[in-house]
Amino acid sequence: MNVEFLKNNRLVPVAVFKRIEDVLPSVKALSSGGINIAEITFRTDCAEEAVRLSVRECKEMIVGAGTVLNAGQCERAIVAGAKFIVSPGLSKSVFEVCEKHGVPYIPGVATASEIMTALDMGMTTLKFFPAGAMGGVKTLGALAAAFPGVEFMPTGGVTLENAAEYLEKPYVVAVGGSWLVKGDGENVEKLAREAKERLKI
Ligand code: 3PG
Repeated sequence: MNVEFLKNNRLVPVAVFKRIEDVLPSVKALSSGGINIAEITFRTDCAEEAVRLSVRECKEMIVGAGTVLNAGQCERAIVAGAKFIVSPGLSKSVFEVCEKHGVPYIPGVATASEIMTALDMGMTTLKFFPAGAMGGVKTLGALAAAFPGVEFMPTGGVTLENAAEYLEKPYVVAVGGSWLVKGDGENVEKLAREAKERLKI
């Protein structure tokens, strides 16, 4: 399961859509602002429809699903068109659905044991979550030192102000954050442009 696309899409906006009418303005604004990937979280009722709509209307975007907690949600996300699946933790049942469909799974990890479980399952690109609360770059550096070859996508507490300190690390493939999807389309485009310029990616 290939997550190569993260190398060229190092900022992964985490979107929590409460209303379906907000979806296309925000997703299109990310694209206009130069960000061609979005993780739509399965925390709200309209998440599945949000994925379906974004996949259908924004062909240039790599649309994935986040906060996928179980096999049922995972199945629905993939049928809706999700190109990658993210969880806050590591779920065997979500992993199995992803395997069945050949869709990349980026599970959340926060400890060495969780990283070892993910490695046993054959995954080497992992979400470090919740990055800030778990000790940020310092904790991630200590973990990464023990796991050469593992790539991380820190998420949770990542902001425009601290994203660079993660992104400069060789073991950080990308960062995720909800700070990029706030307000209306105009604002989302502004946030995307600002992040691309400031972080030079
Ligand atoms: C996630 O879903 O991965 C995080 O909740 C995003 O965290 P943030 O809101 O701190 O960016």
